[in-house]
Amino acid sequence: MMLVFKTIPSLHKKIKSLKLKNKTIGFVPTMGALHEGHLSLIKKARQQNDIVILSIFVNPTQFAPHEDFEKYPRTLKEDKLLAEMCGVDLLFLPDTKIMYGSSPLTEVIVDPALTRTLCGKSRPTHFTGVATVVAKLLNIVTPDKMYLGQKDAQQAVVIKKMANDLNFDVKIITCPILREKDGLAMSSRNAYLNAKQRRESSLLYQSLKKARQKIKTGEKKSKKIIDFIRENILNHTHGKIDYIACVDADTLKEVKVLRGKVMVALAVKFGATRLIDNIIVNT
Ligand code: PAF
Repeated sequence: MMLVFKTIPSLHKKIKSLKLKNKTIGFVPTMGALHEGHLSLIKKARQQNDIVILSIFVNPTQFAPHEDFEKYPRTLKEDKLLAEMCGVDLLFLPDTKIMYGSSPLTEVIVDPALTRTLCGKSRPTHFTGVATVVAKLLNIVTPDKMYLGQKDAQQAVVIKKMANDLNFDVKIITCPILREKDGLAMSSRNAYLNAKQRRESSLLYQSLKKARQKIKTGEKKSKKIIDFIRENILNHTHGKIDYIACVDADTLKEVKVLRGKVMVALAVKFGATRLIDNIIVNT
């Protein structure tokens, strides 16, 4: 049976007793509104650990004041059922007071080279919020392994850097993007899309797939790839492009010539809904 913890001392006590029994802990941090993508992380954690801990916390510090914190989907009842079905042992469900009781808060600021590029250009405070809450969660849960999704590729790179720089003793595992039948990357925010936007949003992955083909058949110039994707999106959707970029998959540095392990990443707004996606191409 899945146990639910709402306070830090009660969770600490449970984790201490598990560690005394030498149990390994796999941790999946989420903001809830669970979909197949989250479930794939939980399943991976289930395979690799004795105990699986899931957290659900819609973290206010990673949303700017004009962003969607208030309307972010909250589906706790369904989430609990799904979590239990997928074999979560402990569910951590803190509220904002428990997570951020004392203010002003100590913040974790990760290397701006990683946080000010891509999504960080239009969301300049986002990754400080993410790194801070994940550092707190890692201290609370002290897992052996933590599972993140490749859809939030920049987030995964930033969190790995944070965990390494602050010497967290955790192995971070990035799991593949799960997609809808038409290719749209699964995301809690897909629920915001109306029918027309939902139809058009499949163009994002279709464009990335075609771009991969172009790279695989010899295109080496990132500008050509970016222009190709931009035209595809502008010609076939009403989406507003935030960015399309070709970067080194590990350092997130923009590349002009496509060489090595390259990430092609994009963010496009459909109405107020900002969608992100990416592919990694080994050239
Ligand atoms: O990816 C998310 O759901 C969030 O950014 C995370 C990692 C749970 C931190 O709030």
